[in-house]
This record gives sequence, structure tokens and C-alpha cells, in this order.
Amino acid sequence: MTYQFSRVSKHIIRSEIRELLKWSRNPGVISFGGGLPDPALFPIQDIIELTREVLEKKGYLALQYGPTQGEQEMLEALVHHMSEYGDEASIEQVCVTSSSQQGIDLLSLLFLDEGAPIIMEIPSYLGAVQAYRRCGADMHGIPLDEDGMDIGYLRTTLDKMKEKGEKPRFIYTVPDFQNPSGITLSLERREELVKIAHENEIPLVEDSPYRELSFTGKVLPSLWTISGGKGVIMMKTFSKILFPGMRMGWLVAEESITDKIIMLKQSVDLCTPSFNQLILAEYIKRGKMKKTIEKAIQCYKPKCAAMLRALDQHMPDEATWSEPSGGMFLWLKLPERIDTKEIFKMAVEHQIAYVIGHPFHCDESGSNTMRLNFSFPSLEQIESGIKRLAGMIKEVLQK
Ligand SMILES: Cc1ncc(COP(=O)(O)O)c(C=O)c1O
Repeated sequence: MTYQFSRVSKHIIRSEIRELLKWSRNPGVISFGGGLPDPALFPIQDIIELTREVLEKKGYLALQYGPTQGEQEMLEALVHHMSEYGDEASIEQVCVTSSSQQGIDLLSLLFLDEGAPIIMEIPSYLGAVQAYRRCGADMHGIPLDEDGMDIGYLRTTLDKMKEKGEKPRFIYTVPDFQNPSGITLSLERREELVKIAHENEIPLVEDSPYRELSFTGKVLPSLWTISGGKGVIMMKTFSKILFPGMRMGWLVAEESITDKIIMLKQSVDLCTPSFNQLILAEYIKRGKMKKTIEKAIQCYKPKCAAMLRALDQHMPDEATWSEPSGGMFLWLKLPERIDTKEIFKMAVEHQIAYVIGHPFHCDESGSNTMRLNFSFPSLEQIESGIKRLAGMIKEVLQK
């Protein structure tokens, strides 16, 4: 049979990272690869008890189809959760999603056509790069420095696009403890970004899975809040602050946009499982999520510090890295001549794995970079793994 595939399917490519990370499953390999939460934080007992309770009291709802926008209890819990981090939203502005990857997908469906220009960070979240590439979007990258997106570069890019009669459909950014770099957009730049977006009437897509995981106790105002909820679509998820297994997230936007998203979601999956929503709504209402987030911070903060300490102690001078104050990742740069994909096999022989940086770059650059995850490995693994990684990099640099 000769199949006739869609135009979208032509843009699908096999993930290099997935192929490489297969090696990291070898026994004895210390992996800094995935973006996984520490499973020791999973509230298994609470979820067992809440599952029983929800089934006993509301089984008739939990096992039924639900509203596409989300269960009322969940929407209320989400609005309350956001307000604890300074973000005010009305229930009408919220739509529950099957995690934020679905948010990215729904926004792609809403805004993108083949060749549509968009703006994103370099490097940026791989799952977004893949989703936008799949749509055939024309991705324009803006480099990051230690304060986040380079706003001067953004202005120049927008000017150049204007000259060509182009306007980005949106600017996609991960302002807090970015995946993959761990970098946070400074307050000054947040304000500038919102101003530029408003002046040019470009929507901002604020992807915000790590916002709650601040090691300093401080969170900067979100783009959503700075803009007064105008022209910003914020995506959130339980995957990093709680667990990814229920595939639960949400987005907030102006009501007219949320409305369109709800209509699109209807054709995608009808609704996010009511079962999961009722369990998590109860979990949030009882104040348990806040405690889990506090525990996550207590767990990840020393792991991040241990990774930074080990890098300081063992890495050669030619390597540089970001110093995150939250989240799950840091970003390592090697001299341009080193290709982190080429040396990956050697890393696995040294019993360590990382994520190669190149696929996070929409402009095909970044072959000398890698992402290191500190949330999943233990403190001991971080210390010995970074020592091994540094030893290997020294060997490579001497060649
Ligand atoms: C920036 C960012 N957005 C979205 C996601 C997708 O997460 P999920 O679909 O599990 O919510 C991730 C996962 O790593 C991420 O880092």
C-alpha cells in the first residue's frame, strides 16, 4: 500500500536525543539527561487515599466525560494556586490541558501555518522547537545571556522582519529557570519585552513549568501579570512541581483566546481526564501541593549547589556554565571545536550521560553545548558524575 501522508508529517524527524539517551539506560550510567522530577517526592500514599475518596464520593463524575474547559473544582483550585504566586486570573480565562505539551500543540493549531514566522529563545525548550518545526513555522531565534533574552537583538530582529513585511505570530519564551539553560529573564527585560510586544501587537507565549521552583524564595512578576493579562498566554503544568504521570496542566489567556482554545481542544481530546482533575483539585485544596513544592525546593536546591560546586572543582577553565537559582537544569558550554554529540559515546563509556545542546537551537547552532539535569540524580551521583564528566572533557581537550 502506498500511504499518502499529510504535509505536517513531512516535518517529523526522529529525535536525536531519544536515540542517544537509550545508551544512558545501561546499568551503572549516571544520567544528567532527562528532565525528570525526583520520584522520592511523589506523594504516592496521598494519591492512593485521594483516589479512593474521589471514587467513593464522586465516582459518577470522575469516570464520566467532563467539560472541555475543565472541572469547576479544578479551575477554582488553579486560579487559587496562581494567585499564591502573584498571578490573578478569572475562571473564564483558564483552560485545563493534558499537560503543557498539549498547550504548545493547541497554540500551534491556533496560530501557525506553514511558513508562519515566530520568535523564540536560543536555546529553547526542545518540545516546543519540535512542535513548531512540525507546523513548518519559520523560527527566528534570539540569543540568551545571563539575564535572559537579548532584548537589543529582539528589536533588531523585529525591525528586519518589518522591512520584509513580516510579523511574528507570537514570541515564545520560558522566563523562569528556563529549560534548557536554567536562566531567568530579569525584571527589567520582562518589562521591556511586554512593552515591545504591546507596541508591535505580538502575542507573548509564556511557558512556565518551573516558576514555583525558586531556590531564593523570590519569584519575579510573570509576563502575564506585568501585561495585566493582555496579549499574554501563559502555560502551566503539574509535571515539574508535582508529578508528570497524570498529564495535567493548564493555560490562561484573554477570555476570547481561551474560548478558541477550548473549541480546538474539543476536537483534539474532548477533555482532560476528570478522574485526574478531581484528585488533583482535592490535593491542591487541602494545601498539599504547596507542601510538595516546598519539599521539591528543599530537595533540588542542594542538588543544584552540589552540581555547581563539583563543576567549579573539576571542570577545566575552557568550560563555562549557567548558575540557576531554581528549576531543574544548568547549561554547559565547551569550546566551539568540541561537538557534544561526537563525544557522547565516550561519555557513556565513562558511565555518564547528558543531553546534547544542538537540538535546542532553532538555528542549528549549539553543537558545543549540553544540558545537565540535577533534579533526578542523587547528591552522590551528582558529585561523582560531574567529576567523571570533567575528567572526560579534559581528555578530549588535550587531544
Ligand atoms: C519549558 C517546558 N514546557 C513544556 C514542557 C512539557 O511538559 P508537560 O507536557 O509534561 O507539562 C516541558 C517539559 O520538560 C518544559 O520544560
